[in-house]
Amino acid sequence: MKDKMIVIMAVLAAIIATACNEKTSSLQEAEIILEKRMDSLLSVMTLEEKIGQMSQVNLESGITEALLESIRKGEIGSLLNAGDAINRKQLQQVAMKESRLGIPLIFGRDVIHGYRTVFPIPLAQSCSWNTSLVEKAAAIAAYEAASDGIHWTFSPMLDIARDPRWGRIAEGNGEDSYLGSQLAIAMVKGYQGDDLSDPASLAACAKHFAGYGAAEGGRDYNTTLIPETELRNVYLPPFHAAVKANIATVMSAFNDLNGTPATANEFLLKKILRTEWGFRGFVVSDWTSVTEMINHGYAAGEKDAALKAVQAGVDMEMVSRSFTHYLKELVQSGTVDEKLIDDAVRNILSIKFRKGLFDNPYPQAPDEITFLRPENLEVAKELAIQSTVLLKNDNSVLPLRENIQSLAVIGPLADAPLEQLGMWTPDGRVEDAITPLAAIRKKIGKDRVIYVPALETGRSTDKSQFARAVAAARNASACVVFLGEEQILSGEAHSRAFLNLPGAQEELITELARTGKPIVLVIMAGRPLIFSRISGKVQAILYAWHGGTMAGPALTDLLFGIVSPSGKLSVSFPRAEGQIPLYYNHRNTGRPPQPENQGIPAGTPLDPVNFTSNYLDLDYTPEYPFGYGLSYTTFDYSPVTLSSPEITAGDTLIVRTSLSNKGKYNGTEIVQIYIRDMVGSITRPVKELKGFQRINLKPGESREVTFKLTATDLSFYRKDLTFGTETGEFMVWVGKSSADHDLKGISFSLSE
Ligand code: NOJ
Repeated sequence: MKDKMIVIMAVLAAIIATACNEKTSSLQEAEIILEKRMDSLLSVMTLEEKIGQMSQVNLESGITEALLESIRKGEIGSLLNAGDAINRKQLQQVAMKESRLGIPLIFGRDVIHGYRTVFPIPLAQSCSWNTSLVEKAAAIAAYEAASDGIHWTFSPMLDIARDPRWGRIAEGNGEDSYLGSQLAIAMVKGYQGDDLSDPASLAACAKHFAGYGAAEGGRDYNTTLIPETELRNVYLPPFHAAVKANIATVMSAFNDLNGTPATANEFLLKKILRTEWGFRGFVVSDWTSVTEMINHGYAAGEKDAALKAVQAGVDMEMVSRSFTHYLKELVQSGTVDEKLIDDAVRNILSIKFRKGLFDNPYPQAPDEITFLRPENLEVAKELAIQSTVLLKNDNSVLPLRENIQSLAVIGPLADAPLEQLGMWTPDGRVEDAITPLAAIRKKIGKDRVIYVPALETGRSTDKSQFARAVAAARNASACVVFLGEEQILSGEAHSRAFLNLPGAQEELITELARTGKPIVLVIMAGRPLIFSRISGKVQAILYAWHGGTMAGPALTDLLFGIVSPSGKLSVSFPRAEGQIPLYYNHRNTGRPPQPENQGIPAGTPLDPVNFTSNYLDLDYTPEYPFGYGLSYTTFDYSPVTLSSPEITAGDTLIVRTSLSNKGKYNGTEIVQIYIRDMVGSITRPVKELKGFQRINLKPGESREVTFKLTATDLSFYRKDLTFGTETGEFMVWVGKSSADHDLKGISFSLSE
């Protein structure tokens, strides 16, 4: 009875606090009230209930009585994959009405690139370099998922990835920290909106903290070894940007970083995340990453794993149950200070309060109308358009004429709705996806389309349909071939050692090329693939990634020139797997390769050429560089000018160029600015992206493009690990890709 009274008092205090909250206008006061609400709640929680808040359970096989009983007892703070909205409502009712303190559950889910409306995979989205469109997509994903009773998404994935063998490259924003940071901010804003308590928003989760994308050999979950300067200069900036944007949660990664698993890494979770960055949300482990520390050889058993994770700063354990099994004992034996548990619970409760779960705990009733709204599908189409990168367009074979007499549509991915949705789409539906075949037929009429899949799936080697495909190509005015990867070939635990077009796809192109008909190749994939053996046999290549629900209409608009391609690669495309890791912002070495050393012809005696950092058997440059992408129109850049050849750290340097549309089409160019710090206390990258702008120009139109560089843009984590500038010479370039031949540059100096 006494117990119940205390609870009632606490609840009353909370209610009064809520009322005050409504009246207060000052943020600071709201913070004080929130703290009070948490204090009063924490003061009545038992140790078991606190540990319950720190435990997240996966709903595997439906709701069981045992699960309901656990919720009743306050042993669970969160669920992931908790069935549908009706299930979630039922579970929440138990938490709210039948548990002693009525603390709401927080429901998490992997809403990675859309919910029912599936947007292009994140790697594709990053090729749009369009932060406002990416933000809109995240807001739509939040809106749809929230209307289905989800509170929290395990997105964005902010891992910098320089290795296309790694299947999860599909899930991130590519290889660059600057672009990755801008997109991180956009995604956090999109998911969380202006107010986390808005029922149409989701709490976001920055993952996987940290270094996960540097998995050795591109093999998922593998070890990472990253020096601290590299970690801070390359891998951490997108996470820092997300924390500055007020992200609610962070997920600790699976990998071990420099010998310490990320899930027990105090340096990451305490020193950097909490102390340096002031993160105020909560940290969730990755799926069983706490107990996987036993396999890492870092924890002697479950109890040791729980101890190491909680001490390092993991607030909530995902799926494994070491916190449930051992935290109580660890506290009671004095090994873990209860203060540590209180801090973790406070972090979790603060997000539950901020998300408004105490006031609005119940999922909405399922309402199909909130899914796939026409205006949201338009955003999905626009993003699929802007994510697509035109890699090649010989003799302007694209765009196709709308009055084309007949078009052969060939390939296993022309009409493969599941594949175009891409990895991580548990809530996307095949029946919602509009395929390229369907969209092309709609555009030019069924009668003018000759369709032959040619291969049953992307991995098939059965060539029995090839003759039909060749005949179709012969009989048509032009031929569009849809090749690539099935969705199952990228994503978590889907790394590949060979990055070719699988199955007999290359042979298909070879056969079709013999017809002499112009071939447009559309590649739909979850990663950069290597297809140099056949790229010379086709006239145009559109790299479409996995474009989501609206991939078909988007590609059709691009193919027929309703809109011109504008995407630029957010990741370098290698010529061969042997070049990996390959990224534009590498260092120079003491013996940099020279253009004249490129591509030693077969038969050359295998002597080192000038003893430079080269390959004997392959060009050292990428097949397609970071930042690269063509348009149907052509853009010209004037030489770059500066506001001053010399600046000090307090100055702003203005960098100018003039961009002209010299072609026949309307087009959008993504203008990029790179710098190089010529001499540093640690060796500096040969180029670093520092800004970009999307500029739309009509044919014949020109515009001045201006960038501003400040000390922050010239700063980096120096040898002594402080962040700042170093005086000396810099280069600055502006242009259409990171490749030397696409850039115009000028030098300047930074003095005291
Ligand atoms: C494991 C993945 O690494 C992570 O990204 C995901 O959010 C969780 N599983 C939950 O499904």
